[in-house]
Amino acid sequence: MKLIKVADYNEMSRIAADYVIDKLHRNPQIKLGMATGDTPKGLYRELISDHVMNGTSYKHVQTFNLDEYIGLSGRDYQSYRYYMDTRLFDHIDIDKKNTHLPKGDAVDEFAEAEAYEKLIQDSGKVDLQILGLGGNGHIGFNEPGTPFDSTTHVVELTLATRTANAKFFGSLDLVPNRAITMGISTIMGSEEILLLVSGAAKSTALSRLVLREIDEGFPASILKTHQNATIIADEAALQYLD
Ligand code: F6R
Repeated sequence: MKLIKVADYNEMSRIAADYVIDKLHRNPQIKLGMATGDTPKGLYRELISDHVMNGTSYKHVQTFNLDEYIGLSGRDYQSYRYYMDTRLFDHIDIDKKNTHLPKGDAVDEFAEAEAYEKLIQDSGKVDLQILGLGGNGHIGFNEPGTPFDSTTHVVELTLATRTANAKFFGSLDLVPNRAITMGISTIMGSEEILLLVSGAAKSTALSRLVLREIDEGFPASILKTHQNATIIADEAALQYLD
């Protein structure tokens, strides 16, 4: 894995945006894999300001998000669909029908997971997948112990992940128990991966990723075997590695 060291969150966001924009200029029909959570918020702000200032167009771009909570419709402000619409899609010229997330309110969540995997496979390949890093090593909602050969599936969220995400819901009780997530093999099938890591809270996880062996107990460790994966990490996240 390549490692790009940056000073702080803002620099990480700018460098990540430059990275995405460069790829988009080279391939206006790029298929982007998107993440939610705190980490990519700055990246999305940078993409919006570049779109406004420089006119970078997303007319032919397709997006595939990593995951969605089960039980939330796209109109629910806690859903990842709502997050993506309000933090990025509503502010750029992307065609909403080219933006894909699992449907959290599908009648049959297992059929929805299967259909989402098929959608990704039928599209060819995600060209550039953006990832954040869970404190327990999760990527997407693939919790420790998820088989490396997993495809898109329904997952029970661990208490650690629900607790980490309670910040968005105000209370742990309100955090859904289940989600649909791209599997680890789905993520690894992307042409290229960009992992963003910022802040002291991620420093232990980042050092484990870099220094320890590959094992299913730490899902992100598999990224070390990807043919084209880059980490952009800031000083606080890198504190145990310098
Ligand atoms: C989000 C996702 C998660 C987050 C991870 C880090 O779509 O799949 O794996 O990337 O939980 O979350 P933040 O960025 O909030 O620290």
